[in-house]
Amino acid sequence: MKTVSTLKEIRALVDRWHRNGKTVGLVPTMGALHEGHLHLVRAARQACDRVVVSLFVNPTQFSAGEDFAKYPRDLKKDTRLVAAEKADVIFAPTAEEMYPAGFDTSVTVGPALTQTMCGLSRPNHFQGVATVVMKLLNLMRPQQAFFGQKDYQQTLVVKRIAADLNTGCDIVVLPTVREADGLAKSSRNAYLSEEERRLAPSVYQALKLADGILQVGERNPKELLDAVRKRLKTESKIEIEYVAAKNAETLEDLLILSGRVLVAVAVKLGSTRLIDNIVVDVPTGS
Ligand code: PAJ
Repeated sequence: MKTVSTLKEIRALVDRWHRNGKTVGLVPTMGALHEGHLHLVRAARQACDRVVVSLFVNPTQFSAGEDFAKYPRDLKKDTRLVAAEKADVIFAPTAEEMYPAGFDTSVTVGPALTQTMCGLSRPNHFQGVATVVMKLLNLMRPQQAFFGQKDYQQTLVVKRIAADLNTGCDIVVLPTVREADGLAKSSRNAYLSEEERRLAPSVYQALKLADGILQVGERNPKELLDAVRKRLKTESKIEIEYVAAKNAETLEDLLILSGRVLVAVAVKLGSTRLIDNIVVDVPTGS
């Protein structure tokens, strides 16, 4: 497996594959790889002739005061993990390579998808994500790109740009990979203290509670959200950022819980921010 760090090299490599009629799958990541990422690499390996895994801690999607500087970086370990999944190439550019002097363009997705949920506490986050993902799609023109449901709002933003900007790329979304106790795998779980790690599964338990409440017929969003908040508040160390129940396609608020319902949570445990979600198909009119 090759590791490539310049735009010129990756473009030449991928252009050759396209010329030879190979399908290309892209798995964009920020590294610190875990089973959630590797699940995406496996899906890409199955679906495409050639697989690129990008490793780039994208500075433009972090707000001031966030964890950009301390974000875990371990290229050696990541390379080993990606090689074991038989990807063809790692693309690991520097920030200067991606954003050379004079860089002055960004991709902005409208407020319906970006000025809600995570977008409220992370003002430029989705612009940073949309811009870097668009750059990767332009560079490699993959037929398919693979994303995790764990970052649900991100998947909608990426689907929007892929469609609106005519990339021709199919955005494939795969289910959230979890620890045995339900905690969604995340590079940021490494920040949790022992005690915080013990409390963290409460987030998924609160989402499971929401699922149960929907299954027994609750259709009032306020009742659902109150129950989820109450469950989270049983752990005083958990600070709720938001609990939301939305239309899973548009992120619109719902007057009645029906159709594909996204239940999403963001909390802080100490200084670590955790997000998680479930999507529940609620029968319309029941
Ligand atoms: P990162 O957080 O490294 O995640 C890379 C991909 O892995 C994303 O699509 C994310 O949703 C997925 N992923 C993370 N944890 C997962 C889990 N537990 N189960 C399933 N998939 C999981 O998301 C980003 O990087 C960046 O924003 C990026 C898209 C690379 C743009 O910079």
